[in-house]
Amino acid sequence: MDPTLDWQTDKLAARLGALLPGLAVEVLGETGSTNSLLAERARSEARPVLLVAEHQSGGRGRMGRSWVSAPGSSLTFSLGLPLAPADWSGLSLAVGCALADALEPAGTRLQLKWPNDLWLDGRKLGGILIESQPLGPERYLIVGVGLNIRVISTADASQFGSGFAALNELEPGIEAPSALARVAPALLGAVLDFGSERFTPWQQRFERRDLTRGRKVTAGELQGVARGVSAAGELMLQTDAGMRSIASGEVSLRMES
Ligand code: BTN
Repeated sequence: MDPTLDWQTDKLAARLGALLPGLAVEVLGETGSTNSLLAERARSEARPVLLVAEHQSGGRGRMGRSWVSAPGSSLTFSLGLPLAPADWSGLSLAVGCALADALEPAGTRLQLKWPNDLWLDGRKLGGILIESQPLGPERYLIVGVGLNIRVISTADASQFGSGFAALNELEPGIEAPSALARVAPALLGAVLDFGSERFTPWQQRFERRDLTRGRKVTAGELQGVARGVSAAGELMLQTDAGMRSIASGEVSLRMES
C-alpha cells in the first residue's frame, strides 16, 4: 500500500544526511511493525535508515505488549543504524529526552516515565522500543517510536490504561509528517552523540522531566519511592530495605495514585 500523506522525504533525508551521510528515509503505507522489518532486514543489509509506516498491523510495545495506532492519527517509525557505544546504559532515557526536548523545549507539560514513556499532562503520549542485533564488532540499533497525534477510537485507546494523550493537545493542528520532521533530527543527533558521550549529559535533562520522582511506585517486585536516576540511567528506588538501583530492562513501573 502506498503512503497517503506528504512526508517530504527528500527534505528530511537531506537534513538527516547532514548528520549521518547515507541515511535513507523510507515511508510505507503499511507494515506489520517497523522495528520487526528493520530487524529482519539487518540480517542481510545493515544500512542506516529511518523507516516510517502510516499504519502498523502488528505494532509492538515493551514487554511483549502490542502497540495500537491508527493511520493519520499516530506517528510510528523506527531509526536503524550500526552503533558501538562503550556503554549502552541510559540510551533509552537519552532518546526519550531528545524527543521530549524537540516537542516541548520548555519542559512544563511533557514528562518522561522511566525508562522511556512520554507523558503529556499526566497521560501517555508515546512510547519507545529499543532493540538491537549483533553486527560484527558493533550492533545494529533499532529505535522504534510511537506517538499519538490525535484521538483514536476508544477501543484502540484502551491500551493506554494510564490515560491517553495526543500531540495535538500540545500543538493544535499538528500532523504526523510535521511531528516527524521535528523529532527525527533530534533523535538521530542524540543517538550519534550517545556513541561518544553516553548518558552523562542527559542525566539532568531527564531529571527535569522525571514523572515519578518523589512518588510511590512499584517496579517489578519492588515497592518504594522513586528518587531519580543514577549516572547510568538506573531508577533509584528508596525501599524499606534501603536504596535499590534498577536497570531499565524488562521491568514494568507502576505509580501508586
Ligand atoms: C511502549 O510504550 O511499549 C513502546 C511502544 C513503541 C511503539 C513503536 S511504533 C514504531 C515501532 N515499531 C513497533 O512495532 N514498535 C515501535
